[in-house]
Amino acid sequence: MTTTERLIGAAVPRIDGPAKVRGTAPYAFEHDPGERFAHVAVVLSTVARGRVSALDPAEAEGMPGVLAVLTPANAPRLADDLEPDLAVLQSLDVHYRGQIVAAVVAETSEIARDAAARVRVEYAAEEPDVALSVDRADLYAPEQLMAGFATDSVIGDVDGALAAAAVTVDATYETPTQHNNPIETHTTIARWDGDSLTVWDANQGPHTIVRGLAQAFGLDPAQVRVVSPYVGGAFGSKAFPHPNQVMAALAAKAVDRAVVYELTRPQMFTLVGHRTPTIQRVRLGADAEGRLTAISHEVVEHTSRISEFAEQTATPTRVLYAAPHRRTTHRLARLDVPPPTIMRAPGETPGMFALESAMDELAAELGLDPVELRIRNEPARDPERDVPWSSRNLVQCLRTGAERFGWAARDHRPRQHTEGRWLVGTGVAAATYPARRRKAECRIAASGDGRYVVEIDASDIGTGAWTALSQIAADALGVGLDDVELRIGDSRLPFAGGAGGSTGLASWGSAIVLTARELRRQLDDEHGGAVPGEGLTVDGGVEGASPHAETHSMHSFGAHFVEVRVDRDTGEVRVPRAASVYAAGRIVNARTARSQFLGGFIMGLSMALHEETVTDERLGHYVNHDLAEYHVATNADVGEIDIAWIDEDDALVNELGVKGIGEIGITGAAAAVANAYWHATGLRVRDLPITPDKYFRELGAG
Ligand code: MOS
Repeated sequence: MTTTERLIGAAVPRIDGPAKVRGTAPYAFEHDPGERFAHVAVVLSTVARGRVSALDPAEAEGMPGVLAVLTPANAPRLADDLEPDLAVLQSLDVHYRGQIVAAVVAETSEIARDAAARVRVEYAAEEPDVALSVDRADLYAPEQLMAGFATDSVIGDVDGALAAAAVTVDATYETPTQHNNPIETHTTIARWDGDSLTVWDANQGPHTIVRGLAQAFGLDPAQVRVVSPYVGGAFGSKAFPHPNQVMAALAAKAVDRAVVYELTRPQMFTLVGHRTPTIQRVRLGADAEGRLTAISHEVVEHTSRISEFAEQTATPTRVLYAAPHRRTTHRLARLDVPPPTIMRAPGETPGMFALESAMDELAAELGLDPVELRIRNEPARDPERDVPWSSRNLVQCLRTGAERFGWAARDHRPRQHTEGRWLVGTGVAAATYPARRRKAECRIAASGDGRYVVEIDASDIGTGAWTALSQIAADALGVGLDDVELRIGDSRLPFAGGAGGSTGLASWGSAIVLTARELRRQLDDEHGGAVPGEGLTVDGGVEGASPHAETHSMHSFGAHFVEVRVDRDTGEVRVPRAASVYAAGRIVNARTARSQFLGGFIMGLSMALHEETVTDERLGHYVNHDLAEYHVATNADVGEIDIAWIDEDDALVNELGVKGIGEIGITGAAAAVANAYWHATGLRVRDLPITPDKYFRELGAG
């Protein structure tokens, strides 16, 4: 019907936009818990390993306006079997620098911070071990990776095929520790009513936070409510519970009053996770025509001493190119660092930097167009699972991108083109990300006056979910956008998994579609097509993965084309233009989808040129823990970026045919920049970020 054509795919402006612009959309800090809240300030460990040997709260306790100083000696007890990450103030042991060792609750944030600085802490410190390297004796293979991926995959005889290959690449790539830096720092307001806990919190999935808090405080999940309707950005650090939510609830319990705990920017660097650094050795073997015979991708990364987080870095290498002999491995070192977590396309992002850089090196060895090299290695089926694709349009993305970018005239030799002081080059890389679906439930209430209330505990972390889900609901109900009232971001709403793994629209959207269909069926079959006077409410949802996920390989694909200019005297790097083309299933909202693709690419650009958390290995300290020193790409860093997509009609992934678009944009983007940098300069930088000093380092090495 006509509403369908109009709504799905339309560039509908954000329905939450006006409230956000006017400042009336409440972010976590802006909720009213019904009473004046007190403020929490934390004391962080200044050693990375050891034990608190003395802790004197007396001066802080004596300050006017201080309600409590919490330490392991007096903090409320949490569950014994709680994962160590969340066991805030339960022990004197220090596992990383920047761990919470005490906290002040006070009438104002100024008093709380002042008092926190007066809590005297002494440590019995031990030498921290924070340096990742490939020759550590304690590297180990985790049982499995994040999201259930296998640790290793081995097919055929990789070493034999490499030895016999006409052309080979053998290179090691490194990516640094990185930190999620949404503009809204993690914030939690907590209030207890007897044994019931309510938190207003910035997160990517209220139900996930409920689970963590219920576990920590030994509560039934029904006793915990988490509210999070608007979130000021999130790239993974807000997906899982972290010490901050436990801290807020602990403090509220201790003073028997609502409290707020808002992280400072420096606290973002130790309390809510980071992207693990990686060291990746990639070996490729090919015949003289550039057909891959062997792919080997071996990853070394870290996790914390107290918990295991095994990032799935080499998994894109399992799907991207055909080759009869193939191997991927992941090894971890347990270090005295804070627990790592997910950050936009965890695994795919660092992994694709390595794989797609290596493919560029292979193209150079062969003297072949790197676009053509990729097309020659297009696999007809998933090369490791040996199942068909639900849909795969990487080649079309490469061809369309080449056309839009103007790739045809490129001289594939490096350092052929200068404009004044600028060395100019272009580069390409592929993008890929899995298309998955998770369990989600939904309730739709139709009222006699033609209104439809759609309830689901989905999250909009700035992605446009408020708008896209409203479009999906209106379309499925066959009504106008204005007839739908969407309610999301509250654990009291029907269950949904968080915003993560680019599964939001696939999961929540499918749940909404199926529930809407059931509502319409009941209206047609039982009520003569009209909503009865007393209204009609229907519950529905999806169980999880697509029924075709076992028999088909489901992924988004894309291609990035980038121009890089490098100042031959200063090493300054600019990216004046880029073009990205995606094949990511059906696009629900052309405006917010473009924004997601664009934001993903810019985050990859930021990774390529700027983002690096520097660790002082003597102290286990993250040195550049603010936005002045940890540079995230801003407007001045971003040139003209052309975003396009190919219409895909994939009936197998889910009811809507959507594949998820939040993360694919970052995958491969850093490699495209690095490949263009090589083309401009003839210098291959294999350790990100590509800062100006590396230009001189590589020149010196040459
Ligand atoms: Mo995304 S790293 O799955 O929040």
